[in-house]
Amino acid sequence: MANTARTQYCGEVDETLSTQQVTLCGWVHRRRDHGGVIFIDLRDREGVVQVVFNPEQAEMFAMAEGLRNEFVIQVTGSVKLRPDGMINDKIRSGKIEVVADAITILNTAVPPPFMLDEHQQVSEEVRLKYRYMDLRRPDMMAKFKLRAAVCRVMRDYFNAEGFLDVETPVLTKATPEGARDYLVPSRTHPGEFFALPQSPQLFKQLLMVSGFDRYYQIVKCFRDEDLRLDRQPEFTQLDVEASFVDEAQIQAWTEGLMVKIFKEVMQLELSGPFERMTYAEAMQRYGSDKPDLRVPLEFVDIADLMQSVEFKVFSQPANDAGSRVVALKVPGGADISRKEIDGYTKFAGIYGAKGLAYIKVNDLSAGQDGLQSPIIKFLTPDVVDGIVKRVDAKTGDIIFFGADKAKVVNEALGALRVKIGHERGLAEKAWRFLWVTNFPMFEYSDGRYYAMHHPFTQPDAKTEDIDPATTTARAYDLVLNGFELGGGSVRIHDQTMQDAVFKLLGLSEEEAKDKFGFFLDALKHGCPPHAGIAFGIDRIAMLLTESDSIRDVIAFPKTQTASCPLTNAPQAVDSKQLLELGIKVNKPAGEKVHG
Ligand code: AMO
Ligand code: AMP
Repeated sequence: MANTARTQYCGEVDETLSTQQVTLCGWVHRRRDHGGVIFIDLRDREGVVQVVFNPEQAEMFAMAEGLRNEFVIQVTGSVKLRPDGMINDKIRSGKIEVVADAITILNTAVPPPFMLDEHQQVSEEVRLKYRYMDLRRPDMMAKFKLRAAVCRVMRDYFNAEGFLDVETPVLTKATPEGARDYLVPSRTHPGEFFALPQSPQLFKQLLMVSGFDRYYQIVKCFRDEDLRLDRQPEFTQLDVEASFVDEAQIQAWTEGLMVKIFKEVMQLELSGPFERMTYAEAMQRYGSDKPDLRVPLEFVDIADLMQSVEFKVFSQPANDAGSRVVALKVPGGADISRKEIDGYTKFAGIYGAKGLAYIKVNDLSAGQDGLQSPIIKFLTPDVVDGIVKRVDAKTGDIIFFGADKAKVVNEALGALRVKIGHERGLAEKAWRFLWVTNFPMFEYSDGRYYAMHHPFTQPDAKTEDIDPATTTARAYDLVLNGFELGGGSVRIHDQTMQDAVFKLLGLSEEEAKDKFGFFLDALKHGCPPHAGIAFGIDRIAMLLTESDSIRDVIAFPKTQTASCPLTNAPQAVDSKQLLELGIKVNKPAGEKVHG
């Protein structure tokens, strides 16, 4: 190693250093030989700079000739203004070049698995296998700098508000957040398992019992669930809890935090307070509890108009309490082609929709003759007229229809609303924050009730008045542009109510004691009223960097099948290790399990 330290980052050398000597360390990004002169683009985390090697210094020149992409070098040279016509306005160092006096090759490199500039042509599998190369790309570097800045602002904000940063265990007991647990076998207690936390929920509540009063933590959480572009099996939360506060205070802190993040990281002024909407209204208008408000399209319920039509596809759901019949008008959409409609029908089918009826309003003044649709023949003129009026359709619009179980209509038309809105340029360019509130406390599925948020959320009713079918929860989600960034609630701090909720969830007294006895005990020891929230840091970073996937803002993410192509984890282990753990595997390694 040369004994001269680096004086600058490559990307920070500019004309203010003209004529000065600099020493730089970095990677050979590109080498070009130009009529006896060698140019190197030298790269480090702050950018690239052009280094010139002249043939007069024969020994150094010979070394420069031997440089290959991704060699690591140290160069000392003097900064010189580039001749006119050679200036590159796109980069900070674009007005200068460094004329090399000395070079040290710190390390060689084998040919890279892909050229950093050509990563688009490589599969994600390859990018993840060579993640350390992929992360050398300037746009990846930029995403991680932004992510770090977001975390810095989060810490600054909560430190300033008097919150304590406390760590909670990773080897712990199952906490119910609705996903499967990752289990870790115990060697000292054969046949017994730790669970990795799905969130620090119970521990942060215990810290409130301890009187810590205000807690936050940037913490890894683990959930074995189906992966999507905004979900990873291990992800990071900013977890927050406070005593003697209610939802209004948690929401005020959240808004203060988001304003600070946008100001300091994005240089944007957000205006508060954020919009609010109940869960019921969000579902009714958008079919989603995390509506993308940038898209101005909305559902219009028309079940009442369809109750007595002959077309069973519509009349049946129109007369069923668990179903919905809705219209979705797309202004100016009459030019959507048959082929595009087929595509949308297929798309809606992913969510279980059995079809996608539509009416094109080609000429409103021509009455029924001005409409084009595969379904008006099944409807009476009154009904058609009623629909057109209710959605306020104009010439040139198209109206799509969904009729099915409410869940299917909400998911299918909800997703279609967002897809069409963005594809047709109807979406506003903005950051649309939204609080979704008044969630149902329970949801019913497979013959039993589940907690919609988690079972520690306070029902918005007295213990004796809780009705699992109708009681709402004091829970709130923070939504941004169609993504759930965070969720939280006011908690149950009363043991009787906690017992009652467990009971409604079908947990016997024994089960409740076995799973949460320690927690129920703690509630008896002077638990203050408290509330909190947790934010998905990966999702925040994904949105702020405008990345397509959460994987782009996680340094070493897992693939869709929850594996790591870089390390090859997960892996089979030695039989000796299994023996020590008292574990016998009855599935051959490499066998994939789905679902
Ligand atoms: P919740 O389960 O809503 O609440 O999680 C909080 C936030 O964490 C993020 N998130 C995820 N991000 C990436 N991959 C995942 N698999 C994933 N799952 C969740 C989301 C979500 O909004 N203990 C409660 C919080 C509380 O009540 O205080 C909890 O974990 O952005
Ligand atoms: P069919 O009689 O099944 O050919 O359907 C006539 C029209 O209704 C077609 O345009 C279908 O796409 C549409 N359709 C069928 N089922 C549904 C449904 N459940 N919701 C909305 N449209 C549907």
